[in-house]
Amino acid sequence: MKKIAVIGSNMVDLVTYTDRMPIQGETLEAPDFDLGFGGKGANQAIAAARLGADVLMLSKVGDDMFGPNTKANFISNGIDARYVETAPGISSGVAPIFVDSNGQNSILIIKGANNHLSVADVERAIEDIRKCELIVLQLEISLETVYHVIELGVRENIPVLLNPAPAIAGLDMDKICQLDMLVPNETELEILTGLPVDTLGHIETAAKFLTSKGVKKVIVTMGSKGALLVTAEEMTLIPCPQVEVKDTSGAGDAFIGCFANHYVANGELIPAVQQAVIYASLSTMKPGTQKSYANVDQFKAYKNSL
Ligand code: RIB
Repeated sequence: MKKIAVIGSNMVDLVTYTDRMPIQGETLEAPDFDLGFGGKGANQAIAAARLGADVLMLSKVGDDMFGPNTKANFISNGIDARYVETAPGISSGVAPIFVDSNGQNSILIIKGANNHLSVADVERAIEDIRKCELIVLQLEISLETVYHVIELGVRENIPVLLNPAPAIAGLDMDKICQLDMLVPNETELEILTGLPVDTLGHIETAAKFLTSKGVKKVIVTMGSKGALLVTAEEMTLIPCPQVEVKDTSGAGDAFIGCFANHYVANGELIPAVQQAVIYASLSTMKPGTQKSYANVDQFKAYKNSL
């Protein structure tokens, strides 16, 4: 089976469901709370694995009670977690998430151990990375490691997909432009390019700007508006099923995990994006991040119901 390497973060998600945020000095009771495994890298890896992908995970967990549980979660989802290692004396990454009554989320991240996934850690896994057909990256680990992996992809001739999340201003565009695939949402696209993204026309122009600079494929995720795929040759808008949203947390990661699984299996871009928008929409109908990700059978049943 073709393999996907996810080189990225893991977090423990502390999800509070609340109609509004407290103002300064106020104590406010929220109706619900949930704890779950999250982190953009881990979420993308789990989504791909639940859909049948063979996933190699490189990540750093903390030296605390979350660390062993996070590693066990990768293993129980069928992920190769030999390179999920503990950062001695460092705490795990955590993410307090606030979800409002419309299902929209606000997220704080404390990277913790994720900051310690180093260039040396990546190079130690090189023999196993070489067996992969795609490398998936996000921005919740150190930028030095992110840039190294982009160069490694070029060096080893392995396509790299970067999800530039969370958005960081001032990324090194010489590195970004070497990417095979870039998958930003609208905000990330705006921050990356410095161009407006208020209309579909704006989004097309900003994505085209990136392909003109060398990125081979740009896929802009646009929530309920679907996704826009832009290459030097084509521009395709892929619509999204309209669903009753409970919680959008982790929907972007569901998209990427599903896309990576289908793209690596079949090598076709548009069908992979079509599957990914449907899978992401399904994830928004359930609370939580990884908890909302369907397996193969659940995904099939959902598609049959559309
Ligand atoms: O994309 C959603 C994820 O962002 C959450 O799981 C949280 O951990 C943060 O990393």
